[in-house]
Amino acid sequence: MKLKMHVNGREVTGEAEGRTLLSAFLRDGLGLTGTHIGCDTSQCGACTVHVNGRQVKSCTMFAIEADGAEVTTIEGMENADGSLSVLQQAFQDHHGLQCGFCTPGMVMAAAALLREIPQPTEAQIRAHLDGNICRCTGYHNIVKAILAASGQPVAMAAE
Ligand code: FES
Ligand code: FES
Repeated sequence: MKLKMHVNGREVTGEAEGRTLLSAFLRDGLGLTGTHIGCDTSQCGACTVHVNGRQVKSCTMFAIEADGAEVTTIEGMENADGSLSVLQQAFQDHHGLQCGFCTPGMVMAAAALLREIPQPTEAQIRAHLDGNICRCTGYHNIVKAILAASGQPVAMAAE
């Protein structure tokens, strides 16, 4: 099947079988390997992208379901000049990543949260990240990074 969608602001076309997952299409069809596949069963959140402005685990939808959609992946999160966005920079500054495998999904989930709640509480951040697993268990610093990106102090209740 032929597909056409906007990915990170650019119109792209491609072909996919009806059973091809959006995660596979992004990685294998478009070469956007920043979208990671950790489980392929909608548990880990590493494959999180935005589809029409909504946070989606891209292994939970078929590529064909995104036909005509606006898709944003981690590659589309940097500033226009190629520098890191405020959120990405906060992950770097607050050591919000260790191996980095979960990081694209964490950043995409956090971006969706901040769009909805510009200054979330620590509890709201932790609740929102419920579907994103970090095998390195770096949750404290991920929460700190999101607090910092939202312009809030990074001191946390859990410490
Ligand atoms: S790869 Fe999609 S949720 Fe784990
Ligand atoms: S930084 Fe390694 S899985 Fe999260």
